Amino acid sequence: MSIQTVVALLSLLLILALAGVFLRVRRFAHEGRDYVPVQGNAYRIRAIAFWMLVLIGLPISVWLFRENPYTTRAASPQVINATGYQWRWELDREEVTAGEPVEFRVTSADVNHGFGIYDGAGVLVAQTQAMPGYVNRLTHVFDVPGTYRLLCLEYCGLVHHDMITEIRVKQGGTDG
Ligand code: CUA
Repeated sequence: MSIQTVVALLSLLLILALAGVFLRVRRFAHEGRDYVPVQGNAYRIRAIAFWMLVLIGLPISVWLFRENPYTTRAASPQVINATGYQWRWELDREEVTAGEPVEFRVTSADVNHGFGIYDGAGVLVAQTQAMPGYVNRLTHVFDVPGTYRLLCLEYCGLVHHDMITEIRVKQGGTDG
């Protein structure tokens, strides 16, 4: 079972539990009961829920931020300057070495384009936006040598589908 399936099932369970709470509240809402006897319990549950969110949620949030590709800066990356045009890509370099960081500096000469890198099996490995008047930096390490395809991910006009070029990733020198 993939992590996406687990998360989807977990979300569904929580949604059903929440719906159950709402339905129960709706069912008993018309009974004019005195709330003082249950007030203490409710406040206790609220305090427990708050501290559980703080104690569990905070570490998870920090942990999730440990790998942020947009803040990763390699000391001396292989730089590729990429510019999107209607309808082609212009790269100042088309070959890089596997296992070493590549920094893409991506911009556009006209409209917004989507900069998407696909491996040989057609799986998207990294992407960012190509925007006029702005340079987006995307750092990626190609672990597997081969030919990667660069496709436009945002509809940009008539020949959008043909904004394709290639990047060759060659084997690194030292480790085979
Ligand atoms: Cu460029 Cu779609």
